[in-house]
Amino acid sequence: MTYAVTDNCIACKYTDCVDVCPVDCFYEGENMLVIDPSECIDCGVCEPECPADAIVADTDPNAEKWVALNTKYAAVWPVILSSKDPLPDADDHDGTPNKLETLFSEAPAEQD
Ligand code: SF4
Ligand code: F3S
Repeated sequence: MTYAVTDNCIACKYTDCVDVCPVDCFYEGENMLVIDPSECIDCGVCEPECPADAIVADTDPNAEKWVALNTKYAAVWPVILSSKDPLPDADDHDGTPNKLETLFSEAPAEQD
């Protein structure tokens, strides 16, 4: 069992989720976070923290492809341990459809 970050995180990256995770299993891309399913303890506390409603349990009907995407990028992106400012146009992109096809970046976050 795990949770996964989905489409609406892309180009928003509010990062409120990071501060509540007890096992630090969020990983940071240029414009999205993902969860490492092998580390997530399925506690669920991050899900209500996301202003973009981008986090789902793997019991969600649409979760399968997102768990796969989270697994893939958690292996190559750096861990993020505390929240930071959202992306500059986060509020404009909250709710934009089909972000995976149009806005997603495979690049890792730049290291501070
Ligand atoms: Fe972290 Fe819990 Fe969210 Fe999993 S469900 S990513 S352990 S806060
Ligand atoms: Fe993304 Fe929501 Fe966390 S927008 S960075 S999953 S708070």
